Amino acid sequence: MPVSVIVLAAGQGKRMYSDVPKVLQPLAGRPLLAHVLDTARALGPAAIYVVYGHGGEQVREAFADADLRWCLQAEQLGTGHAAAQALPAVPDDHVVLVLCGDVPLVGVATLNRLDAALREGVGLAFLTAQVEDPSGYGRVLRDPEGRVVRIVEEAEAAGGERDVREINTGLLAAGAADLRRWLAGVGNHNTQREYYLTDVVAAAVAEGRTVAGIPVEEAAEVLGVNDKAQLAAAERAIQRRIARALLEQGATIADPDRIDVRGTLEVGRDVFIDVGAVFEGRVRLGDGARIGAYSVIVDATIGAGSLVHPHTVVQGLETGARCEIGPFARIRPGTSFADRVKIGNFVEVKNSRADQGTKVNHLTYIGDTTLGSAVNVGAGTITCNYDGAAKHRTVIGDRAFIGSGVMLVAPVCVGEDATIGAGSTITKDAPPGELTLARSQQVTVQGWKRPRKKDPHAEKEAESEKNGRRD
Ligand code: UD1
Ligand code: CA
Repeated sequence: MPVSVIVLAAGQGKRMYSDVPKVLQPLAGRPLLAHVLDTARALGPAAIYVVYGHGGEQVREAFADADLRWCLQAEQLGTGHAAAQALPAVPDDHVVLVLCGDVPLVGVATLNRLDAALREGVGLAFLTAQVEDPSGYGRVLRDPEGRVVRIVEEAEAAGGERDVREINTGLLAAGAADLRRWLAGVGNHNTQREYYLTDVVAAAVAEGRTVAGIPVEEAAEVLGVNDKAQLAAAERAIQRRIARALLEQGATIADPDRIDVRGTLEVGRDVFIDVGAVFEGRVRLGDGARIGAYSVIVDATIGAGSLVHPHTVVQGLETGARCEIGPFARIRPGTSFADRVKIGNFVEVKNSRADQGTKVNHLTYIGDTTLGSAVNVGAGTITCNYDGAAKHRTVIGDRAFIGSGVMLVAPVCVGEDATIGAGSTITKDAPPGELTLARSQQVTVQGWKRPRKKDPHAEKEAESEKNGRRD
């Protein structure tokens, strides 16, 4: 039977206290809904319907993908009402799988259990979980034989029902024709005046159909994200999952609880990642690469054997092999290094290229610059790339040696093997192979005396001495 997925994503998420619609709240760097849609796609369904409403255009714009069918739920009248917005479009002979935009961690294997149950003749299958604290969730009520009777929402749960620790995950599957029929009979006569999708369970039972409440193995997989505390819990859960996958690929991670991957991280062999490292966007670490503590690496390829020392921030970098960056360095977009480039502490590099073996070791700004190979840039050097209106390039030839504290006023070229004297302000091209200096000559002023402060203490003493003598 073909499967049509309906993703409920119209809710506001009041409990988030946020201007960002709930399904756009970030999890591992991507909207909650993106995770649900990935999973939905992995099931290979005939169609994916997304019921949207709150923050409508914002949500749609975030997912321009052509394969989604958008169904507007203009008013958020409950999960049953939400599912009903998509159902008319689903052919009778399809299995409908309902997913929630705020249950992002569920895996394909678990969802396949719903489909399998239907194929075994179950009329309605839904996932449940055993939790320590069921508050906020619908409770699964069973008869003494363990058969599902109905789901009671927290707001409706009375007496002992509140103590039931088997909760509804919000994820269910049924035949489209059945679901349509059951849903048509669901009213909103409850404390929240909402059409509860969960009421289809009692409807199916009333028809004498088998209803399977299938418990998942790990409650974390079906965590519902309604508030920031649950968002944080989901974040930890997904990060632990990502860390586990990296460990399985052979990465060494100093502490799997202290790594954050908000995007994709590919690792070669023998990669080491120290505590507090954050990866965003697409990052690739070559064989033997090491990432130091508390570094942030965004959209970068770090070559084999390269070291990123602690507290380094990297965005938009491609390096060759055996480079060293940091500690406390900042690399900005558009930068690439060949092999064995060294960037030291408090160095900022932007939109620049450095060839093999070049070193920029301390306290330097390199922007819009092409550095040849084996260049040495002294401490405190700055490429003055911005004139207030436009950015200009600096080009430094192979083996050039830039002394400490040099201002290179771009556009400017320093020739191969050139040497620039410390403290120079270079405004014109420096020829290859020569020493260029651009600074006033050192003079010594003979006999010059440094001005002295009057010493108030000494004055006072002199005064009292005078007075003493008078007495
Ligand atoms: C829902 C279930 C509850 C279950 C829990 C699991 C109902 C009535 N309750 O409760 O049994 O334990 O999920 O996480 O189904 N939505 C819409 N339109 C609406 C209302 C909600 O699209 O009018 C969407 C939300 O965006 C969300 C999902 O449906 O993605 C669930 O809604 P939410 O309000 O979070 O339901 P819960 O109170 O968590
Ligand atoms: Ca929810």
